[in-house]
Amino acid sequence: MDWQQGGTSVMEISHRGEAFMRVAAEAEADLRELMSIPANYKVLFLQGGASAQFALVPMNLTTASSTVDYVNTGHWSNRAMAEAKRYCRVHVAADAGGGYSRVPAMSELKFSDGAAYAHYTPNETIGGVEFGYIPMPRGAPLVADMSSSILSRAVDVAKFGLIYAGAQKNIGPAGLTIVIVREDLIGRARADTPRVFDYEQIAEHGSMLNTPPTFAWYAAGLVFKWLKRSGGVAAAEERNRLKAEKLYAAIDNSQIYRNPVAKDSRSRMNVTFTLRKPEWDLSFLEQAARAGLKNLNGHRVAGGMRASLYNAMPLAGVEALIEFMREFERTHS
Ligand SMILES: Cc1ncc(COP(=O)(O)O)c(C=O)c1O
Repeated sequence: MDWQQGGTSVMEISHRGEAFMRVAAEAEADLRELMSIPANYKVLFLQGGASAQFALVPMNLTTASSTVDYVNTGHWSNRAMAEAKRYCRVHVAADAGGGYSRVPAMSELKFSDGAAYAHYTPNETIGGVEFGYIPMPRGAPLVADMSSSILSRAVDVAKFGLIYAGAQKNIGPAGLTIVIVREDLIGRARADTPRVFDYEQIAEHGSMLNTPPTFAWYAAGLVFKWLKRSGGVAAAEERNRLKAEKLYAAIDNSQIYRNPVAKDSRSRMNVTFTLRKPEWDLSFLEQAARAGLKNLNGHRVAGGMRASLYNAMPLAGVEALIEFMREFERTHS
């Protein structure tokens, strides 16, 4: 209510005022530092979520006669692909199919020549499937929907043409979307692209073509500072690796829990599992909630359970879950 002794909250001040401009610039600088973003990339702070980018990417990077490559590994890549089909020709570079329980091997990716870009989803949030490698398209810029994996592990940004992510997992509150785009890909938007959706216009105006989501941007800045203080992305990656390893080991060593994902494709962020008897699901969720372990139900399209281990989840939270799961197993075998 009295941000920086100004007598107002950060939500009440003008986004064009000096104080907020400082917040905005600092958040960008911190993100650049955390991800080692090269100088020839713009960082855009947008609205509309990752779902808006499903359309804005083809609107900004293709013409109606373009072909684009999509790797289909589950729900979110499917959604991205369906949207792209409304704008240009989509070539499926690989379809993991069969329940989407694994990531295709690099050798299975059939990228086309002359594609405007190649798109993939490094982490499928619902299926709990994650790439352990960065695909290499044939000369086309690589586009990644990093909504549920950004800042969870180190990535070489220079390998990407464009990275986008809804903020609400590892960055901050919903309402903010980050786009990291290589400069040579800016300025190609279709003529009928609304100005507020044109990367060139957005970049030229420092993401302030119109009023940005100021509070979400401010909160994201606080998260970036926290991440820097806690050792940066490398330390987060190590924590995430350990959390996921412990939980998968507990699942694999149990008689009643099962994770359906191929071991080399298991997500560090979203650990899915089923119970041997689906009729136990409800009591598992109720007892877990009573133990303070909430939101463990799988996404409505997938069922089962899902433990999301985003950066903000401490190891102690995972250990508490494992302990609860063991106790539940003792009474349900
Ligand atoms: C990988 C991925 N892509 C896209 C989305 C959609 O994001 P939004 O709700 O920000 O549009 C989500 C949401 O969970 C996601 O996990």
